[in-house]
Amino acid sequence: MRKKLIAGNWKMHKTIAEAVALIDALHAALPFVPADRDVVVCPTFTALSSIAARPRGPIGIGAQNVYPESHGAFTGEISPAMLAEIGCAYVIVGHSERRAMFGESDAFIAKKAAAVLAAGMSPIICVGETKQERESGRAQSVVLGQVAGSLAGLEGRLEDVVIAYEPVWAIGTGLTATAADAQTMHAAIRAELRRIGGAAAERVRIQYGGSVKADNVDELMAQPDIDGALVGGAALVAEGFARIANYR
Ligand code: PGA
Repeated sequence: MRKKLIAGNWKMHKTIAEAVALIDALHAALPFVPADRDVVVCPTFTALSSIAARPRGPIGIGAQNVYPESHGAFTGEISPAMLAEIGCAYVIVGHSERRAMFGESDAFIAKKAAAVLAAGMSPIICVGETKQERESGRAQSVVLGQVAGSLAGLEGRLEDVVIAYEPVWAIGTGLTATAADAQTMHAAIRAELRRIGGAAAERVRIQYGGSVKADNVDELMAQPDIDGALVGGAALVAEGFARIANYR
């Protein structure tokens, strides 16, 4: 049985004061989570320490990005050990916004994922096709190419990796893949993971992301290969995220 992972990606939202208010409200709204799921929030770098110091009950913390070196002359970057020291258990790598706006390649994402694993955390590796790629019938080949490329060299570490399938056209748009379409892609990703890493593929959690909300989460989470959600906009409101985390 794979334990589901519900993660909130706060993106570039919330000052420290606002982030603390949000985690306090979320803790009040979500004092317990059922044993079959993990719940995590990924605030901005500046808010991480303050969030880590707050009472959070069952809510874990993760980061949104990392640089794949341990230290050195990398102005503006943050190392895996710095995130582990704060108490992060997860790091999002290769989000589509980073792929598109900051030119991150599969090879760079694979390096980041390896560095995250080496520091004892789990990478949440994001993959997903654009609208144009879906409309031209290339969604599956694009996504499976990203999966293979972003896992290069990590074949023996699959069970500590999380994959987030996030169709780019569904992110922040209010459009969601149907549960059936998402399941089809998740099953294809799982088959690719089997090809790459054998039986460990059954233990890899594959999250869905892209306009996950209170009113679509239950159907998505009921699919056999959907093992959680990566939630953007709806993670910024405590009651809404608590409802998503309490999917049925
Ligand atoms: P969204 O973002 O839930 O606002 O669509 C998801 C994400 O980008 O991780």
